Amino acid sequence: MWMGPGVALVIWENPVMQAPHVNPPNGQAADADLEHDVNLKPYNSFGLPATAHRLVRIRSAADVRRVVDHPVLGLAPKFVLGGGSNIVLTHDIDAVVLKIEIPGIRLLEERADAWIIEAGAGVPWHQLVEWSLDQGIGGLENLALIPGTVGAAPVQNIGAYGLEMQDRLENVVVVDLVTGRAATLPAGVCRFGYRDSVFKQSGFGGLAGKSVITQVRFRCPKPWQPVLGYLELDRKMLETGISAPSARQIFDWVCEIRRAKLPDPAVIGNAGSFFKNPVVSPEQCRDIIGRDPHIVHYPMPDGQIKLAAGWMIDACGWKGKAVGGAAVYERQALVLVNRSGEARGAEVVTLARAIQESVYGRFGIRLEPEPVLL
Ligand code: EPU
Repeated sequence: MWMGPGVALVIWENPVMQAPHVNPPNGQAADADLEHDVNLKPYNSFGLPATAHRLVRIRSAADVRRVVDHPVLGLAPKFVLGGGSNIVLTHDIDAVVLKIEIPGIRLLEERADAWIIEAGAGVPWHQLVEWSLDQGIGGLENLALIPGTVGAAPVQNIGAYGLEMQDRLENVVVVDLVTGRAATLPAGVCRFGYRDSVFKQSGFGGLAGKSVITQVRFRCPKPWQPVLGYLELDRKMLETGISAPSARQIFDWVCEIRRAKLPDPAVIGNAGSFFKNPVVSPEQCRDIIGRDPHIVHYPMPDGQIKLAAGWMIDACGWKGKAVGGAAVYERQALVLVNRSGEARGAEVVTLARAIQESVYGRFGIRLEPEPVLL
């Protein structure tokens, strides 16, 4: 049985993976799929230049097994690439890039209290949200238009407008990158936090770089209940006079809100929010309010306070500022963009560091980047 370090409960192995397995002679099957010197610019939402010296497209769990069993690739370090919407590439990649393209969406099960949907890790996230609504299944609408793939969603514990991935996750199917064995991890062992999970953690028990997510199963509760209460959704209800919106209506509102202030990566390269919203103690918050009474902050259920990083960056005067081709988005200071289309990863990192320093200088808060800097 596959046992990820520190992951205590594995409920069943994927039956597909229990079929007898024969190593390809001299790894021929994997060699056929191996691509050399692949330009990654189209494969990262920031549109940053970098080359993958070796890249394998993964269309099934069996493809992962072929890589694991390959005499050379099996031993090489690996880098798992989903939709590339949460990375900043600053150099070429020597590790073998596994580009996840596993397709498929299906209704796995209808229970008395929920619909269970399964999607391949390579499915674009927004496509899954649309598909579920087209089937009359609500529950994912608050997460509309988030760039990236289904497989990346639990890694980041994506969240928006009052809902996080962890609120809808049933389980995650992974393949271990050393043993090639598949396992199903229930949501409870995924160590979800704010934009964090076991799949992102590399410390004790973390699974970063150790496994590939092949499928994700979602639980959409029955009867459907709207997730409201987020300021901008409340504003839409007031503006339209609709007090009991449908899932489709919330989807449309979320799309409108996002389109109004977040840049479309297909038009201008970006990785969404570049920094996490920092969480501070009530004492720290009081201290900052003493100096900056207008700072936007939200009390959290555990008594801590979340500060709006976008507001702090904006207050330091960063909107529209640039380093080379990289810039701070004019309509939302939390988002860095590839304004020229020709930005380099180093320029993005230089800009990010300058922002961190200026926010630290004024508020005494160290902003933490949300994307992975490579
Ligand atoms: N603000 C400013 N100036 C700015 C940006 C923001 O004053 O340039 C203020 C806003 O007016 C608002 C507050 O800061 O009062 C917070 O801004 P907003 O409501 O836009 O949300 P956010 O904290 O910037 C977070 C998530 C987004 C998610 C939205 C909606 C993080 C790091 N970001 O943004 O997630 O879509 O809430 O739920 O948690 C992402 O992770 O890529 C992402 C886009």
